[in-house]
Amino acid sequence: MPAVNSSAWTDPDRFLTDPDDVAAVLRDPHFTVSQLTAHLDEIVARGGPRFPHLEAMARHAFAFQSGEPHLAARRATAPFFAAPALAAWTPVAELAIAAALASLETSRFPDLMRDYCEAAFLDFIRAFCGCPGGADDRVLDLIRLANETTRPMLSLKALGRIDAALGELLDHLSTAPVPGLEPGLVSFPAFLGRRADRLADPEAAPYIALSALVGSHTVAQSLALALHGMLLGDLGAWQAAARPGWTDTGLDRAISLYPSTLTLVRIAGDGARIGGCPCHKGETAVMDVVGANAALRRRVPDGSAHLSFGAGRHKCPGAPLSRMFLARAIPALARRFPRLALHRDGVRFHVTPLVQYPVALPVTRDARSRRLTGRMVEIRDLDEARAIVNDDATWSPPRMEPYLETLAERSGRDLGLARLVARNAMFFMSGPRHAAIRRAVADSLGGNRLACWQPLIEAETRTALTRLASVPAPDLIADYAEPLFRGIAGPVLGLAPVDPERFDALAPILQDVLEPWLPIRELDRLQEVIGEILAGLGLPATEGLPSTPLLTRLMEEDLPETDPEDLRALVLVMYGASFNMAHTLGNILHHLLSLPPEDRRDAADPAWIDAELEGLISLCASPKYIYRMARGPARIGEIEIRTDETLRLQLLSIDRGIGTGNLAFGHGLHRCVGAALSKRMLRTALPALFARFPGLALRPQRHRYLDMTQTVALATLPCRLGPSGKDRP
Ligand code: HEM
Repeated sequence: MPAVNSSAWTDPDRFLTDPDDVAAVLRDPHFTVSQLTAHLDEIVARGGPRFPHLEAMARHAFAFQSGEPHLAARRATAPFFAAPALAAWTPVAELAIAAALASLETSRFPDLMRDYCEAAFLDFIRAFCGCPGGADDRVLDLIRLANETTRPMLSLKALGRIDAALGELLDHLSTAPVPGLEPGLVSFPAFLGRRADRLADPEAAPYIALSALVGSHTVAQSLALALHGMLLGDLGAWQAAARPGWTDTGLDRAISLYPSTLTLVRIAGDGARIGGCPCHKGETAVMDVVGANAALRRRVPDGSAHLSFGAGRHKCPGAPLSRMFLARAIPALARRFPRLALHRDGVRFHVTPLVQYPVALPVTRDARSRRLTGRMVEIRDLDEARAIVNDDATWSPPRMEPYLETLAERSGRDLGLARLVARNAMFFMSGPRHAAIRRAVADSLGGNRLACWQPLIEAETRTALTRLASVPAPDLIADYAEPLFRGIAGPVLGLAPVDPERFDALAPILQDVLEPWLPIRELDRLQEVIGEILAGLGLPATEGLPSTPLLTRLMEEDLPETDPEDLRALVLVMYGASFNMAHTLGNILHHLLSLPPEDRRDAADPAWIDAELEGLISLCASPKYIYRMARGPARIGEIEIRTDETLRLQLLSIDRGIGTGNLAFGHGLHRCVGAALSKRMLRTALPALFARFPGLALRPQRHRYLDMTQTVALATLPCRLGPSGKDRP
């Protein structure tokens, strides 16, 4: 019997997604599960090492067994995992969840995977699977490692590591009564000990217990994936999980939407058929669980008909346990932390062709403002934030010029360029000069002035779509969001670099200007690059453009205390700020493509995008913070603020999917002057992409974020264009 070859996953278009086909293959005895034994035997036949624990797992773990021995072992263990027996374990799960909530509450850098999902899982599973020994971190590491057993074509090194992990875990299993447990509760190894006579091979018991311990990590994975999915949405969806009755309506849907199992695999034997068509013996059938679940929700919208636990003889025996655990863990978390907010750029995934689950889920627990340091207070409440940005008398923008002046004096450094930039960065300006410049900029970038740029925005969108369709490995950041941003922002602002390639390479650093109070080392680096960019700027190009660029128009104005050098610096800083256009587009694309297909089926319709836009912006806008400084002593709630202290308005918690009325573009005197341009671009680029590629899909969890302190920004967002695109061989 052949082992599964990893090339089976190279073409996702060949995966089975029709739920009837998937269920039929899973139930069909002509298809068998992957044969780990075959792989291990081959290694030995070629003179390679033996892996005794893996060999035993291959014989005794349900996932690798077939035929009568498999059925007999399943029958013997079924009562332990069945819903009635689990009722007695529910209080143990609830205690584990309560303990994990307490650890999350006090964690310095709260992370849902580490502090909640895995903490609650481990606490419970140690009792349930009779694994009292070993330090928590070590046991978790071993379980994660041993989980790789089902991955096909593992290297010798990986097999060695897994074998060692299995051996170490085996030593921790015990049939002794678990301390602290009610005497009536019997752990799995103890249960198996009592039923040894029903197992064909008495040697099997420890390995069956071991496979349950290792395999049940899926509970933590599924919980984490469901929380990740739910927290990406708006606050209403999260808070719904706290309401009584959520389990009845929401649990199945969550399990259907967020399966940690991406694909299931079977190997065709003699006489195997799929959808009536014969298969070759040894052919691999890869079944797409996410796709099959989506198809099933089209038939049964509540999600209750999912295949997240598989089907047929290998259907997950842990399904009732997972349901029991998730039904308690999700609402308990939503009740305790109704304003929980996920830092999506800090999320990290473990992803293989078979599974996906988050390994890091950093969060902010609540929306209460708090002092971060002796000099900085973080604002997380919408009403407080709104009051602050509307009160220019109490709160000024960061006063960068005096800061840089003092720094230059103290350090003896020439900070002339940094001062030029700070003096012309609108978000650091105050008073009449700021007001005059805002008026002049609004004359070019105000909502009603931008219509003349629409032909350029549409032409750039078409060019970007053509580019996306022509590259071998399409990426929605490199091949869509970034070229679109460059194609629009440069001409509209009037930046004409002599060497566009060099400019594009240097320009991202302009985003660092958005962060106040940079240390001197960063300022040195920034000055060097800004000097080079300024020296490489030509006169704004106007030829062939549908309207006059901003810089050209500003040059014609008589602005107070502003010379041409100031204007070039001003527009350059604006270019730095306008990277947010690309980042926000990327974030919205990631968000929309992570939604269930039924929730974004109208994304090609400009009217739908228009109606959803504020909600999308409030969830996905890229800036993390707005800054203000106290002009004098002040107070926010219980927090005393001294003169010159900095307020950092944390937009993640403030805006969290509130739709209209969000502060994604700020408010008041410093409201974003690029908001109208950004929204116009989004209204054009989003529906155009979905209209051109109706089958657009992400490569699951292959995206990567940039490591930026001030901005949520994707570095890559690999995708498949789908049937009407050109990314097929
Ligand atoms: C989706 C994209 C964008 C987002 C989410 C965004 C966000 C923001 C926010 C939150 C502020 C307020 C800062 C404060 O109150 O201190 C702001 C200000 C500003 N933005 Fe944007 N921005 C975006 C695109 C742009 C673009 C395309 C430009 C340039 C054309 C731009 C230029 C500016 C400038 C110059 C300010 C300062 C305005 C002032 O202080 O008077 N932004 N932006």
